[in-house]
Amino acid sequence: MAKTSTFTPKGDTYVASATKTTGLPQASRLLAWYDKYGRDLPWREHEGRAASPYHTWISEIMLQQTGVSTVIPYYQRFITRWPTVKALAAALQDDVLSAWAGLGYYSRARNLHECAKQVTREYDGKFPSELDALKKLPGIGPYTASAIRAIAFDLPANVVDGNVERVVTRIFGYDKPINDTKNKTEIHHLAAQLVPSKRNGDYAQALMDLGAVICTPKNPVCNQCPWRNNCNALATNRTSALPVTTPKKAVPTRYTLAFLITDKKGRVFLRRRPPTGLLGSLWEIPTTEWRPDKPWRDKETQALPFFNALGAKRIPREITHVFSHFKLVTKLYVSDRTPIAKKLDLSGQWFAMDALPAVATLTKKMLTAAKELGEN
Ligand code: ADE
Repeated sequence: MAKTSTFTPKGDTYVASATKTTGLPQASRLLAWYDKYGRDLPWREHEGRAASPYHTWISEIMLQQTGVSTVIPYYQRFITRWPTVKALAAALQDDVLSAWAGLGYYSRARNLHECAKQVTREYDGKFPSELDALKKLPGIGPYTASAIRAIAFDLPANVVDGNVERVVTRIFGYDKPINDTKNKTEIHHLAAQLVPSKRNGDYAQALMDLGAVICTPKNPVCNQCPWRNNCNALATNRTSALPVTTPKKAVPTRYTLAFLITDKKGRVFLRRRPPTGLLGSLWEIPTTEWRPDKPWRDKETQALPFFNALGAKRIPREITHVFSHFKLVTKLYVSDRTPIAKKLDLSGQWFAMDALPAVATLTKKMLTAAKELGEN
C-alpha cells in the first residue's frame, strides 16, 4: 500500500523511538515466516484455490466477536449448506438464524442474510472490492471492508484487528490506552506505515497470525518472532506492559424470572423475540421483564398465576448469562402444567425437544439446567 498516511504529530514520536532502538520491521520477513508457519484455516483456501470474496466475508463476519476454534465448524456448515452468495440470499431467515445459533451477537446473522440479498440484487452475487461500496453493505464496517479487500481481492488495505493492535503497539512502543477511539486512530496510522505493496491478503493474515501465535497477550514467544529485531517493546523490556488498556467498566446486572413449561408430550413452550434488538427473532423460554432490580419478591411478579399454580418448581441454582453490555441473572421455574401457559397469556408455540427452532444460548443454558436436575 502506498504510504499515504496523513498521520504525523504524535505518530512521529513513535516512529522515531521505534527507529532509534530498532528500525521499522520489513513485511518481507513477516511474509517469509507466514509461508512457513501460517495457520492452515479453512477459509484461506477453497478446493485448492484462494478464498473467494464469499468465503472471506462469511469467515470475517463470524470472526468479528468469536474465536477461530469456535468459528471453524460453523463456517464449514455454512458454506456446505449455502455454497454461494445467491444460495444464502435465497435461504429462509429462520434457517440462517438456526445455523448461527450459539455464535452469539445475532444481529450479525440477520445482517449477513440481508447483505447476501443486497449483493445478489445489486451486484449479481459478486462482492465489490472498493472500501466505500463494501462499507455500505449491512454488517460490513471499516475493519471487515479492509479485510475483504486485502484477503479476497489482494488489494492494498490496512487491516487492523485486536491482534494487529497488539503487535503494532509493541513494535512502536506505543504506550497510550488502546481502548480509546482517538488512540485507535493513531495505531491505525502506525500500522499503515508497515503495509507492503504486494501480497496484501497474505500480509494481513500473517499479521493476524503473528498476533495470535507469537505476539500473544501473555508470554509472547519473542525469540521466534520474525520482527524481534525491530520491536521497541522487546528492546525496552516492555512486552508485558504493552499494550496499555484502561480497566473496563463493570457491566451492570439485570434480573429476571423464567418459566420453562412442558406439556404431556414433553414439548416445550417458547415465544419469539421481536425481529430487531438483542437476540432478535430468536425463540426463548418466556421470562418477566429484565430489570435492574431483583423481581424475586416483587408483588407484581408474585401475582403471576404461575406462582399460584401447584407444581411449579424453582431450579435451585441461578443462571447467569453475560451479554455484551450487561449480565442477566435468572431464576428458572419449571412446570408441566400446560394450562399455565394459557393463564400467563403468553403467545408462543410448543416445540419437541429434538426439533427446537433457533434459540439463544441463554435458553439452551436453561434447558440444560432443568435437565441436569431431572426436572424436565
Ligand atoms: N481473525 C479475523 N480474520 C482472520 C483471518 N482471516 N484469519 C485468522 N484470524 C482472523
